[in-house]
Amino acid sequence: MTTRADTDVRHSPFGHTAALEFDPSLRRLRDEAPVSRVSLAYGAGWAWLVTSYDDVRRVVTDRRFSRAAGIGRDLPRMTPEPIADPEAINLMDPPGHTRLRRLIAQGFTPVQIDRMTPTIRAIADRLVDGLLCHGAPADFVELFAACLPLTAICELMAIPRPDQPRIRELVVTLMSTDAGADATVAAKAALRSYFVDLAAERRARPGDDLISALAAARDGTQRLGDPELAVISMVLAIAGHDTSTYQLSNILYTLLTNPGQLAALRARPGLLGPALEELLRFIPFRRGVGIARIATEDVELGGVLIRAGDAVHVSYLAANRDPDVFPTPDVLDLARPRSAVHMTFGYGTHYCAGASLARAELRLAFETLLARLPHLHLAVPPADITWHTGSIWRYPEHLPIAW
Ligand code: HEM
Repeated sequence: MTTRADTDVRHSPFGHTAALEFDPSLRRLRDEAPVSRVSLAYGAGWAWLVTSYDDVRRVVTDRRFSRAAGIGRDLPRMTPEPIADPEAINLMDPPGHTRLRRLIAQGFTPVQIDRMTPTIRAIADRLVDGLLCHGAPADFVELFAACLPLTAICELMAIPRPDQPRIRELVVTLMSTDAGADATVAAKAALRSYFVDLAAERRARPGDDLISALAAARDGTQRLGDPELAVISMVLAIAGHDTSTYQLSNILYTLLTNPGQLAALRARPGLLGPALEELLRFIPFRRGVGIARIATEDVELGGVLIRAGDAVHVSYLAANRDPDVFPTPDVLDLARPRSAVHMTFGYGTHYCAGASLARAELRLAFETLLARLPHLHLAVPPADITWHTGSIWRYPEHLPIAW
C-alpha cells in the first residue's frame, strides 16, 4: 500500500485550458495517480485528490469522510475565502444533513417542479422574444443565459426584481478566484445579511414562494430554525442560478460547434432529455475542485492509505471521463447508451439538492430555443470566443449567435 511519504505533492495542478477542453492535468492524474496529493492556490498544506469514478463514489458515500470535520480548518481550496458558510448545508454531515435535506426536498418534489414549469417556460419564451426583438447577432450570455436561471430562482423565492442585480454581483465576487480576500469576505457577509432579513420577513408574512414553503415545512415535529432558514435561502439563491447560467451557455456552445449532433437532435427532439445528460457529463463546467472532506478514520482507497484527519478532494469532472465507466469518454455522443449516472450534480450525501429544477430549466430552455430558432448558429468563428478565467467556473464571456 502507498502512504503519503511515497507520493509527491503537486502544486495547483489545474491548468487554464482552451474553451471547454477537458483539463489534461486531470486526465493525467486519473491515468497515473488516481489518488494523489495536491496543494491549491489558497488554504494551508495539501489534500488528497481522488479522480477515478469508483474511488470518487466511495469517498462521497462513505460516512468516514466528513464535511463538518473540516469546519474551522484552513483547507486547500480554489478561492480566497471558503465559499460555504460554516452553517451551510454543504458542510453538514448526517443526521443533521439528512434532516435538512428532507425539509428542502419538500420544495423540489415532482409536483413542485410541475408547478414551476409554466413560469420557467414563460421566462424562456420572453427571453427568445427579447433576442428576436434585439435582432441578430445577439449575445446569448447577456440576453438569455444570465437571465433565465436568476429570474427563475428569484421568482420562485419571490426576491424583489430590483434586488436581483445586486445579488448577482455579490455571487460573482464570491466565486472569483482573484477578487481578493477582503472583497469575497464582504460579499459573503452582505449576502448573509440580506437573507437573514428576507427569511425573517417571510416567517412573519408568509407568501406563495419557496422561502415561505421552507419556513412552513415540517419533518415530524421538526422545522427549520431562523438561522437555518436564512442560510438555506442564501445557498438556494446562489446555487439556484450560478451553475445553471454557465451551463446554458456551455451547452449551447457545444451544440453549435457539433452541428452533426445538433442536426440529429433536431430531427428527434424527443431525445433532448438523454442528450442533455450526455452534455452535462461531457462539459467540464468548473476549474479544479469543490469542498474537501476529512477522513475521520484511516481508510484504504485505491491502494493508498488515507490517515484520519487528512483532507480529501474528489473530482466529479475526472470521474465523468473515466473510461472504465464511460467508453470513449472524450467523445461527445448525444445518443450514448446510458451505462452509468454522470457526476455533474455530484453523488451521494451532498448530491445537488436542485438537480430536478436545473434539469427542468435546461430542458425548457433548449425546447424553446430549438423550436423557435430553427436556424440558430454561432455568429462568429469559435476561435473568436473569449473564455472566462477568473473564477471557479468555465464559460464563454460572450456567445454571439444568429438565427
Ligand atoms: C446545471 C446546474 C447545476 C449543477 C451542475 C449543480 C451541481 C452541483 C454540485 C456538483 C454540487 C455539490 C456536490 C457535493 O458537494 O459533493 C451541488 C450541490 C448543491 N446544489 Fe447544485 N447544481 C446545479 C443547479 C442547482 C440548482 C438550480 C439548485 C437550487 C435550486 C442547486 C442547489 C444545490 C444545493 C442546495 C447543493 C448543496 C447540497 C448538499 O450539500 O447537500 N443546484 N450542485
